Amino acid sequence: MRRMLLIGIGVGDPSQLTVEAMKAMNASEVFFVIEKGPEKAELTSLRRELCDRCIDHDNWRIVEVADAERDRAAADYVAAVERWRSSRAQRLEQAIITELRDEQCGALLLWGDPSLYDSTIGVLDEIVKRRRIELTYQVIPGITSVQALAAAHQIPLNAIGGQLRITTGRRLRAQLAAEGDPQSHDGGARELGAEEGVLAEGESVVVMLDAECSFKALAGQGIEIYWGANLGTEDQRLISGIVEDVTQRIERERAAVRARKGWVMDTYLLRRR
Ligand SMILES: C[S@@+](CC[C@H](N)C(=O)[O-])C[C@H]1O[C@@H](n2cnc3c(N)ncnc32)[C@H](O)[C@@H]1O
Repeated sequence: MRRMLLIGIGVGDPSQLTVEAMKAMNASEVFFVIEKGPEKAELTSLRRELCDRCIDHDNWRIVEVADAERDRAAADYVAAVERWRSSRAQRLEQAIITELRDEQCGALLLWGDPSLYDSTIGVLDEIVKRRRIELTYQVIPGITSVQALAAAHQIPLNAIGGQLRITTGRRLRAQLAAEGDPQSHDGGARELGAEEGVLAEGESVVVMLDAECSFKALAGQGIEIYWGANLGTEDQRLISGIVEDVTQRIERERAAVRARKGWVMDTYLLRRR
């Protein structure tokens, strides 16, 4: 039986790697990489650097797997993501068949933690269920961008006794649109659990995957933002304050990091003052 390890590697700083992750890397011989996008080259070289640094044997290699194209214009977002995940599963399955011998151990070095906005667990699950090959997999946790953000700002994620919600820029925009449109208030907003507004009393909301700085629409509501870009890397940027006071600075910094690096990844936490 082939074995795959899904190893969380943290979000950019090699010292975020856990001892368990290092042991798992040392148990692996073939490292599959299926990243894409402008950050691909840098993230692939970071993975190579991690392998060079942490693996005690010479018997490892990196295999790049071309990623499937995702239909970003599709009306049904969830169906489009499922189709994309399925074709990703086919490609990875083929690469595992070709590159990993029976009884050998392969790995995927996954950004942050494999459980947070990452499709790889679903992809491996699909490969196992298809039963074309005999495969087991195991998940090794890593430091998420959410933890890196809280640590960098030296803040707790939740207010005392308050709840914490993690969401995406897309969902935040949908929620704001539903709030601004009384017609859809019973539908969209309630579906998002937003009966008490964008931020419920005592709630903290972490927003990921937001290329549009959607927090801008929250100006004038006494909401604080803790923003971090490229956390754990030499380009890390941190800004905090009341939304309307810091929006322009965040947009400027975001654009500057993107211009310098060619890519930017940011996460932010919102809560009422
Ligand atoms: C596809 S998700 C992957 C999340 C990852 N699994 C984790 O545990 O953080 C990508 C999003 O994570 C966040 N992210 C990842 N790396 C980051 C970093 N170094 N700094 C800030 N945000 C980051 C951004 O919100 C980005 O849009």
